[in-house]
Amino acid sequence: MNRVTALFKIEYPIISGGMVWCSGWELASAVSEAGGLGLLGAGSMHPEVLREHIKKCQRTTQKPFGVNIPLLYPEIESIIKIVIEEKVPVVFTSAGNPKTWTSTLKNAGITVAHVVSSSKFALKCQQAGVDAVVAEGFEAGGHNGAEETTTMALIPQVRQVLDIPLIAAGGIAGGKSMLAAFALGAEGVQIGTRFALTTESSASEAFKNLCISLNEGDTMLALKKIGATRLIKNDFFSQVKQAEDSGATAEQLRELLGKGRAKRGIFEGDLKDGELEIGQIAATIRDILPVSAVMQTIIEEFNSQAAAVGKLRFNTGL
Ligand SMILES: Cc1cc2nc3c(=O)[nH]c(=O)nc-3n(C[C@H](O)[C@H](O)[C@H](O)COP(=O)(O)O)c2cc1C
Repeated sequence: MNRVTALFKIEYPIISGGMVWCSGWELASAVSEAGGLGLLGAGSMHPEVLREHIKKCQRTTQKPFGVNIPLLYPEIESIIKIVIEEKVPVVFTSAGNPKTWTSTLKNAGITVAHVVSSSKFALKCQQAGVDAVVAEGFEAGGHNGAEETTTMALIPQVRQVLDIPLIAAGGIAGGKSMLAAFALGAEGVQIGTRFALTTESSASEAFKNLCISLNEGDTMLALKKIGATRLIKNDFFSQVKQAEDSGATAEQLRELLGKGRAKRGIFEGDLKDGELEIGQIAATIRDILPVSAVMQTIIEEFNSQAAAVGKLRFNTGL
């Protein structure tokens, strides 16, 4: 047990990050059933679709699960109303100001965590009264901090300023990297890419298969002017790169992105023109596995690596 397992009433301090077009009820309830905390990704759901997914989670697991709500979501008020009405125990907010909704959620008895990419914003979360902070580094899939701080550099800096529980995200897909995050001061991990590439993820097979064939350097941060996003280098990425290299404005980039491109890429499998979001760590993943197998491997690897590293001793009498 540690502060993260106690806070969320879970067995293992492992959270599956909310991911647009990947994190439906199948993925969230499988992660919760396996002893972690599964999150539904409200970012790609209309309010009533989210309600359906919450109800399906409630039917398929007795264990706690949560909802990730990107705060820039256009129908935010309906989404907040639904998580309160449906008595969702945990909400992870992201992409916005933690001050706006934390007290409303907490007054409804919901445990709240917020995702940040800097120690400055981690401190703002603590001041806003959240229960835990997710610090997400540059390696991560999806939307990302513009400062490009890596997980390895971010976690110890956030740890220095934060008293409440700290969850590390970005580049963590196994027990070894989970252990590294704990060594840096994290008390839990939020994992995206590894869970996007599981049997229960609702991403298309075409997207999953492309992701497990990626190598080092096959993703890159783009679209910084309108919201930095890590993308697979496909035809759409090349268009973005070309536009950015020739000084495109935020407005021009917004136009190029258009609407529904992440759905086309991730959910419908348009590998050429879709917006394909995945993390750097995909380059180490070669198979699509059920969530239970992924969870078991992470825990076993964490335990065996902790034992191996724990035996190391160096003389300090210099
Ligand atoms: C396909 C995809 C979609 C994502 N969508 C969201 C989202 O809607 N909201 C959010 O807060 N984070 C989102 N993320 C970030 C994850 O929740 C998680 O923090 C991140 O993936 C962790 O880094 P990793 O990919 O290296 O494991 C997304 C990530 C991926 C790969």
